[in-house]
Amino acid sequence: MDKIPFPAAISTTVEVAKKTDLNGLAGTVNAILRNASRKFEQKIFPELSSDRKERISYLESFPLWLVKDLYKWVGNREGENIIKAFNKKPSIDLRINQLKTNLDNFLKVLHENNIDAEIINDLHNGITLKSNPRSIKNLPGFSDGLWTIQDRSSQWIAPLLNPKEGEKILDACAAPGSKSTHLAELTNDSAEIIAVDRSAKRLKILQSNLERLNLKSVSTLKADATSLIELNPKFISYFDKILLDAPCSGIGTLSRNPDSRWSLSKEKIKSLTLLQEKLLESIFPLLKKDGTLVYSTCTICPDENNLLIERFIEKNKTLKLVSQKQILPSLDNPGDGFYSAIISYKS
Ligand SMILES: C[S@@+](CC[C@H](N)C(=O)[O-])C[C@H]1O[C@@H](n2cnc3c(N)ncnc32)[C@H](O)[C@@H]1O
Repeated sequence: MDKIPFPAAISTTVEVAKKTDLNGLAGTVNAILRNASRKFEQKIFPELSSDRKERISYLESFPLWLVKDLYKWVGNREGENIIKAFNKKPSIDLRINQLKTNLDNFLKVLHENNIDAEIINDLHNGITLKSNPRSIKNLPGFSDGLWTIQDRSSQWIAPLLNPKEGEKILDACAAPGSKSTHLAELTNDSAEIIAVDRSAKRLKILQSNLERLNLKSVSTLKADATSLIELNPKFISYFDKILLDAPCSGIGTLSRNPDSRWSLSKEKIKSLTLLQEKLLESIFPLLKKDGTLVYSTCTICPDENNLLIERFIEKNKTLKLVSQKQILPSLDNPGDGFYSAIISYKS
């Protein structure tokens, strides 16, 4: 630490970075180290606050308002665990396409190609990669549609609908389609799945995923999901199953999108909850009386999850909350934070 001059240490570190996964970030590594060495030489050291939340905010590079909120939601110890988990490298999980292969065969293919991977316990079709590939799309089987990249927590959602062949299924906020394609695979590509999204650009990705996976039972519809009834009145009480994978703050995915913590705000979350509520209200009339709706988000913010759903059920007396589940990220669970609620009509 003392003997090697900073410029030499920095230059070697940048060279090492170029030979690793950090290759694309060599410039960033250089900038960070030069900045740190400048501060060290000018003896600029941070003063750590004695306040626990301020310390964590500083040490883990996490917005203070979000540290405070997280601690409120889950308690101090759990909150700290989650923040640390957000600063870990996220897992890279795949969902194999059960219409084209199975877990054992595909794992064999990966191992034959010297790719270290293992089956994810508790999931039907999940595989996790043990090291970062240089390019995901160059992994074997991508263009043949043998798998989809999908976080392990997200892989829980489509099966909650218990989708069946022949059913009419609405995926109301569908793009880029990890859950629509999962629904199609679970129903042997023999359901009638309508994948709605208001973003044409994202629907295009969904479409290319359908082609790659060779799935025919999903049709895409560019529309605002809050006005589907106006668009097509036949949709009233039409669907056996509805998935509302709502737009959300994404707080459960901060290890995948580390910088998005800095663009979040309480105001943004508030406006998202209004949209989520509007989506729920406008989509529910599309469900058959004996149908099932699953609401899901990749956030752990109660305002977007259980509090919203409980208020919605309270307001709509004909409905019942069958079950709900919040998956929290943690140092032991490398998956994203996800929420799901299963809702149906009271019988
Ligand atoms: C969480 S993402 C969906 C992810 C997708 N279900 C998947 O598994 O790949 C939310 C999506 O909702 C779409 N969206 C937001 N507001 C919408 C609205 N009013 N109507 C339809 N889609 C909307 C966004 O374009 C975005 O693609």
